[in-house]
Amino acid sequence: MELLIRAVRPQDAEGIVNILNPIIEAGEDTVLDAPLTVEEEREFIVNFPGRGVFHVAERREDSKIVGFLSLEPFASYTHVFDHVAVMGTYVDLSLRRRGIGKCLASAAFEVALRNGFEKVFTYIRARNTEALAFYLGLGFRIVGTAHRQVKIDGKYEDETIVEKFLSV
Ligand SMILES: CC(C)(COP(=O)(O)OP(=O)(O)OC[C@H]1O[C@@H](n2cnc3c(N)ncnc32)[C@H](O)[C@@H]1OP(=O)(O)O)[C@@H](O)C(=O)NCCC(=O)NCCS
Repeated sequence: MELLIRAVRPQDAEGIVNILNPIIEAGEDTVLDAPLTVEEEREFIVNFPGRGVFHVAERREDSKIVGFLSLEPFASYTHVFDHVAVMGTYVDLSLRRRGIGKCLASAAFEVALRNGFEKVFTYIRARNTEALAFYLGLGFRIVGTAHRQVKIDGKYEDETIVEKFLSV
């Protein structure tokens, strides 16, 4: 599959929601707990931080959005974390293990470095061993476990925290 990795546009909101909502509804991988409307996603895109990186993977043959990655500053209340980004990667449920996530990540890391980020931090639900394998494969290392970090329907879950230093 030939992919075009490019910056997101407001009109990609529908394609993004079409990927994200089935993942939210499956309830296993993400901490997002309510489906998003196209309008909410459009607002999110429009207001995305300027230093952040928000890319989509577009399948060249039919221009369908098949994945996306957002990487944004870790915090905005202080400058001491300005070199740290947090990221999330989402690929269409039916198109996994074809290298889409990896393509999105390598493009995003290049832009992130140019935008002044030096490291990327992310949180993964402990049950999401697929995402952990994905991030470890990208060169992330496990920082540790945040115990009972997630509470869904009264049930606790741990989260695994991972980090990666970006390099030229
Ligand atoms: C995690 C996710 C983004 C990976 O996307 P993907 O396009 O399927 O990943 P890739 O095909 O680029 O995989 C790259 C490598 O990561 C590892 N990997 C990815 N998915 C894996 C899985 N299910 N099991 C084991 N290893 C996996 C492998 O090493 C893989 O290389 P290989 O296929 O040559 O063995 C995708 O599974 C997803 O969208 N998950 C739901 C959302 C989510 O949990 N996001 C992460 C939290 S923000």
